[in-house]
Amino acid sequence: MTTTTKTKQLKNDLLIRAAFSQPNDRPPVWMMRQAGRFMKEYWEIKNRYSFLEMCKTPEIAADVTMLPVDLLGIDAAILFSDILVTGEAMGGLLSFEQGVGPRFANPVRTLADAEALEVDVVDKLQYVADAIKVVQQRLDGSIPLIGFAGAPFTVLSYLVEGGSSKDFKRTKLMLNNEPEVAHLILDKITTLTIDYLNMQIDAGVNALQLFDSWANALSWSDYEEFSHRYNKRIIAGLKREGVPIISFGKGSSVFAPLMAESGPDVVSVDWNADLRRIKDSLPAGIAVQGNLDPFVMYADKPVIRRKIHELFERMRGVDGYIFNLGHGISPDMPFDNVKYAVEVIKEYSYTK
Ligand code: CP3
Repeated sequence: MTTTTKTKQLKNDLLIRAAFSQPNDRPPVWMMRQAGRFMKEYWEIKNRYSFLEMCKTPEIAADVTMLPVDLLGIDAAILFSDILVTGEAMGGLLSFEQGVGPRFANPVRTLADAEALEVDVVDKLQYVADAIKVVQQRLDGSIPLIGFAGAPFTVLSYLVEGGSSKDFKRTKLMLNNEPEVAHLILDKITTLTIDYLNMQIDAGVNALQLFDSWANALSWSDYEEFSHRYNKRIIAGLKREGVPIISFGKGSSVFAPLMAESGPDVVSVDWNADLRRIKDSLPAGIAVQGNLDPFVMYADKPVIRRKIHELFERMRGVDGYIFNLGHGISPDMPFDNVKYAVEVIKEYSYTK
């Protein structure tokens, strides 16, 4: 089956069909962080360049994007980049240090910091559009390419904390004590993210995912005020033209009704949720993605197989289901197990 997209005919359009709640004989598979440190081929590139150099050099970003396509045979590629490039374009001094993770050397903590953030900077992210074009040439219509951005709250948390955080203490202090500063930052990230994702659509992505990884830190009312409202604005601002939108939040299945209300085609949740219950609770026409516990990837192969089959049987009869892990692949997950999981999925059939 083929789907005509804005870019070209896709030979494998399982992901697009599932995202639009059309029937498939098996769920499509891709995995968050599928291009990363669990692959020795990733390290061969990573040992020669910094992470940001890799993201900003279209040929290298394309090489890394293609690794799981060539080595795992997944049903969709996701562009090699990071959610924090929007924060950098706005003025954040971003670095990725080995063992430390992302760092913004100039955290955004005051009204003056927030006012200084730049918004009209999508041109600084041209390298992402260039990488998309190179990847699409390489893919040559074989499978869809997923573009992405960080959701405003998650990007704000990195800007405010200056890096990763366990408890989001500074972020929550800002939401509680100076909500107007938070709203100014969120408003600016939202405006840039709309431009950025539309740029990705123009450059030729076939689907988009919005990563609100840390929304699970928020209470229901804070989620509505500081996350949902902005995600909804982003999704409403996209020139979708046949490009499905996936909305992801780690640990945020409790927010699934709001996630659905923000207008995506697909709601992606992590492994805490019973995915079938989530699906059945959402309005018709909204697909779901997820949600195998990533730690299953460390288990013995028969266990991996059984857990995937259990999930697929739970989802039997659902039009609109995309397989993914509940969160990303970790650096020490055995490559062989991840590859095996993809094989198990590709052998599956609801009609055989
Ligand atoms: O999924 C893919 O393969 C596509 C590329 C991708 C990366 N990051 C590559 C990456 C995507 C989609 C992301 C999204 C991202 N980045 C998120 C949302 C997804 C999630 O995990 O919730 C977040 C929160 C970030 C921020 C970020 N970038 C962190 C916290 C880290 C450090 C992680 C760690 O374990 O050290 C990064 C770095 C990063 N982004 C790496 C990769 C492959 C590792 C960089 C390295 O090689 O050292």
